Amino acid sequence: MDFKSELKKYQLIVEEELAKYLRKEKCIEETLNNSMEYSLMGGGKRLRPILVIATYELFKKDIEKCMPYAVAIEMVHNFSLIHDDLPGIDNDDFRHGRQTNHKKFNEATAILAGDGLLNAGYIVISEDLKKSKEDLADKLRIFNEFSLAIDRMIAGEYIDTEFEGKEISTEYLDYIHINKTGALLKLCVRMGAILGKASDEELEELSNYADKIGLAFQIKDDILSEEGDEKILGKPVGNDKKRNKCTYVSKYGLQEAKERLEKITEEAIKSLDKFGEKAEFLKELAIYIKDRNK
Ligand code: IPE
Ligand code: IPE
Ligand code: MG
Ligand code: MG
Repeated sequence: MDFKSELKKYQLIVEEELAKYLRKEKCIEETLNNSMEYSLMGGGKRLRPILVIATYELFKKDIEKCMPYAVAIEMVHNFSLIHDDLPGIDNDDFRHGRQTNHKKFNEATAILAGDGLLNAGYIVISEDLKKSKEDLADKLRIFNEFSLAIDRMIAGEYIDTEFEGKEISTEYLDYIHINKTGALLKLCVRMGAILGKASDEELEELSNYADKIGLAFQIKDDILSEEGDEKILGKPVGNDKKRNKCTYVSKYGLQEAKERLEKITEEAIKSLDKFGEKAEFLKELAIYIKDRNK
């Protein structure tokens, strides 16, 4: 499998789908809509929607059924990034190689664009629920997991912010990562699996994979914040250090953080053993998360 072109293919599918949800009408709040679009279409990797789709494809081919959930999670993710960059949280000026939302627009607009994208995610899911007759129980289960995962992401962001400048235990550090980043990534895999009608055992194995890549993803994010190339990364390097954040790198050092990343990636891949060939893309995705430079 040519992973790079597969990834590109998925990214294009997601971009096209997101574009369908943009609000183009002339209206008094047009700037707010532009601000939401600025972030949503701003060049993210689209990892979360891709996880939804690729997991769904382990079971079924008709990916249009999972698209509302793929779109909704990307909206929520972009909400989290807009608010994460605000002066009251990370106070960052650059993301995706350009100004952060509050720099491009202003703080009030950025706060509301974040709120708007969070709610837009709920609108997309509720519209799908409204017209669904079959699979309603599965979709309600997903709706519940969706709201609970966002709750965890917000809790993780809170603790991450609250403990800035303080030395924290490894237990707290893991807790931050599991919630701040892991919860949404796990949700994506679970949404794809539940929509695909995975068995309980399959759901368990996929959740295990998701836990591992969730942690790996944030370890890599911490490593990139230490030694990434700002031009490629499109967001500031050294900002964790500047804000005295306790990260995997500050806790374990660069070398050990990298070793842990290797190990957890291997574990992630292993947890897909039972799916064989079908899971090739998800396995490659775990490697991509480890080796990415942006
Ligand atoms: C960055 O996520 C924020 C974290 C949760 C660490 P991504 O790296 O997935 O963000 P994109 O690709 O810019 O959207
Ligand atoms: C962002 O975490 C995580 C969420 C928005 C939930 P970080 O602050 O570590 O990520 P970057 O480095 O700004 O993307
Ligand atoms: Mg942050
Ligand atoms: Mg940040």
